[in-house]
Amino acid sequence: MTEVQREVITLSSAQCSIEKWTLRSSSVSVEIISLGCVITSIKTADRNGQSSDIVLGFDDLECYLTNSRYFGAVVGRVANRIAKGQFVIDGKVYNLANNNGPNALHGGLRGFDKAVWTCGPVPDGVRLSHISPDGDEGYPGNLKVSVIYKLEENTLSVEYCAQTDKTTPINLTNHSYFNLAGQGAPDIYDHQVSITADAYLPVNDTMIPTGEIKPVDNTLFDLHKPIALGSRLKELPGPGFDHNFCLRFPEQPKLEIKCARVEHHGSGRVLEVSTTQPGVQFYTSNFLDGTIKGKGGASYPKHSAFCLETQNWPDAVNQTQFPDALLRPREEYNHITRFTFSVA
Ligand code: BGC
Repeated sequence: MTEVQREVITLSSAQCSIEKWTLRSSSVSVEIISLGCVITSIKTADRNGQSSDIVLGFDDLECYLTNSRYFGAVVGRVANRIAKGQFVIDGKVYNLANNNGPNALHGGLRGFDKAVWTCGPVPDGVRLSHISPDGDEGYPGNLKVSVIYKLEENTLSVEYCAQTDKTTPINLTNHSYFNLAGQGAPDIYDHQVSITADAYLPVNDTMIPTGEIKPVDNTLFDLHKPIALGSRLKELPGPGFDHNFCLRFPEQPKLEIKCARVEHHGSGRVLEVSTTQPGVQFYTSNFLDGTIKGKGGASYPKHSAFCLETQNWPDAVNQTQFPDALLRPREEYNHITRFTFSVA
């Protein structure tokens, strides 16, 4: 049985109240706030039964209002990048704010990560709902979104659902930054990672997929067998992993796939991820630089966490060979991702 608790917190600068929900099972405890649908904490035990918080974030919840790194948040309406912040639907050109060099990233200037969601209880969890109006950040259609977080024993599931009244691109994910040694540990070099992807998407110099769907065979992106992150990051050209791994191809049926496993030998903690999404952005916090003051006064340098953002392939709305990125009226957007925590 999961214990579910609700608390109301007033944010003085925003002059608004937000809710904090705590989900507690016998082995895991998760905190979620209604601002940005953010997971603010995940506490799991190491092999000696010592519990630590394994996600990055802030003690002062006000900081999530200005956080530009999307710690723990649900990002949308479209997670990841859209080239030149532009797309065309039925001959009509839509322009978004370019908030990442020449491109649009993670839903715009005020994406879903900055909205205050409406909460309600569900068995073993909480449902957060949000209405994104027609024209919100340049996107078409009134979009009704809900995210259900459920904790069942050692598995946290995140279920995304949405409907629209005009055809719109959509791509929802959770942007938690994990460090299985405990948040605040300086790096993730001693983590072993595997991702069950046969292909990945090379990107151009503005991080937009080039269009090539490249087999991982004989490349540094072959993560079928666990690799030590520290040594692989040294070999990899560029600042680190920030790439979409292709979990299933457009013609393949939507099934839940075990997509990633991360193990930290020091603590024994293991994270396993499964999803119905066609891709996962594996991001090794290349753009953290130690300037953010995190929980418990931690500074978060480059490579101090990893993200496994299950989602559609980046820029899919502009790349026809990628999985369909559009949600149409009378359709339902529906995906689930599960994070399972254990010790080895
Ligand atoms: C992107 C990174 C970006 C980060 C922002 C990730 O999803 O792939 O390039 O810097 O989000 O927090």
